[in-house]
Amino acid sequence: MPRFRNQVLSRRAFLAYASASAAGLTLPRSLSQVAHAADIKEVRLRAAPGLTQLVSDPSSQTPIWGYNGLVPGPELRVRQGARLRVIVENGLDEETTVHWHGIRLPNAMDGVPYLTQRPIGVGENFAYEFDAVDAGTFWYHPHQRSFEQVGRGLYGSLIVEEPKPIQTDRDVTWMLDDWRLTNSAAISDDFSNGHDVSHNGRVGNTVTINGHVPDTFAVQPGERIRLRLVNAANARIFGLDFQDHEPVVIALDGQPVTPHAPDGGLVVLGPAMRADVVLDMVGKPGGRTSVIDRFYQELEYRLINLAYGSTPLRDRVPDWPLALPANPLPEPDLRTARRHEVVFNGGMMGGMVMAEMGGSMGSDGSSGMMGGMSSMMGMMRPGNVWFINGVAAEGHIMDPILTLERDQSCVLAMTNATAWHHPIHLHGHSFRVVSRNGQPTTHREWQDTVLMAPRERVEIAFVADNPGDWMFHCHILEHQAAGMTGVIRAA
Ligand code: C2O
Ligand code: CU
Repeated sequence: MPRFRNQVLSRRAFLAYASASAAGLTLPRSLSQVAHAADIKEVRLRAAPGLTQLVSDPSSQTPIWGYNGLVPGPELRVRQGARLRVIVENGLDEETTVHWHGIRLPNAMDGVPYLTQRPIGVGENFAYEFDAVDAGTFWYHPHQRSFEQVGRGLYGSLIVEEPKPIQTDRDVTWMLDDWRLTNSAAISDDFSNGHDVSHNGRVGNTVTINGHVPDTFAVQPGERIRLRLVNAANARIFGLDFQDHEPVVIALDGQPVTPHAPDGGLVVLGPAMRADVVLDMVGKPGGRTSVIDRFYQELEYRLINLAYGSTPLRDRVPDWPLALPANPLPEPDLRTARRHEVVFNGGMMGGMVMAEMGGSMGSDGSSGMMGGMSSMMGMMRPGNVWFINGVAAEGHIMDPILTLERDQSCVLAMTNATAWHHPIHLHGHSFRVVSRNGQPTTHREWQDTVLMAPRERVEIAFVADNPGDWMFHCHILEHQAAGMTGVIRAA
């Protein structure tokens, strides 16, 4: 049953939203405070196939899907408090939507096919419109068959600027991506194959920054850079080592955090996660430093070289303040919070697929041998490999796994009962990460996507102040498609 009978509705829905928000009716207080329609920025994004130069060999172009012909799509920049209107035109051969990852916005603008809107049909348009309530580093991508649409290049950054940004010499975005390319630099079309789905997702063989295999990044001695890192990969996790440089993390998933050195010196980014770091270029004129990705043991590689120019910009590290102003997030009250348990399981080597599938396995599979499991994985529909609280979801329409009372504080006590990492994302809200394996976190960071290590327990807390049905899923896009998806309702 389609929940959205006609596309014309979308226009009416905006008007309804616009007048309701002007009257302060439907939006949570933290979202409506800064809403004013005076300052509107309008952009057009056309999703369509294109060609781009991902690899350095100029004779090999890669057919991609991009926004406005680009990978990444255009960087959208808007001032905090302004309204963004994005007209999305679908030039693909299949339906699409755009989700504004990490942005707290009205449910109807969230870009989830069937759940919040009818998907944008081939040749059709849809107008998204919302206020940028939080300053920070966000991004956009389709939510329809995202394992392939994002995997082919549909994504871009969305930067919401603070009214008074901290002082730096340059504000730079690096959108990291990871591609699986064939020898001729074409995108391998084995999307969502059984092995990727049941293991760590589609990890590729070619890493790009802003759509190119990077070589060097030119810097000046003494320069201070605000580097906005966005992980747009389907599945690859990054752990960046800046070597003799000392990055200071000032925001995670767009939300300010007490400025701090990253744990173990590595800036770790699971799929969909962002980190804003301040980098002081402390190297010598003419010097070079490699940035190394060390996330996967014994698979370290050089991501890029920082190449110093010859003229120092200044001779000492500036003493400009690093802390960003807080965003208007509602603070969860842990004493009154309702607690909910969430268990993630499934996948290879979890032992849980067997248990979950129980009697439904044929005589083949019940041997329990890994080989048997493997071939079974290859044959399974991608929809039933991963589970949230025992349910492997398909598509976007489902009963909520949780219904939260509006404006109630809640804690989700999450357990990763699998042998794999999972970056778990909640739409429509940011949450505080309050503990890991029973230990309080140092920074109580706000995130919208939290990376859970194998077997890890993580508690998150937030106020369910944004009404609607919100996706809650793993952002390894193959895991999402294969069941690790749920809906949380704020009613
Ligand atoms: Cu970045 Cu549900 O998505
Ligand atoms: Cu996952």
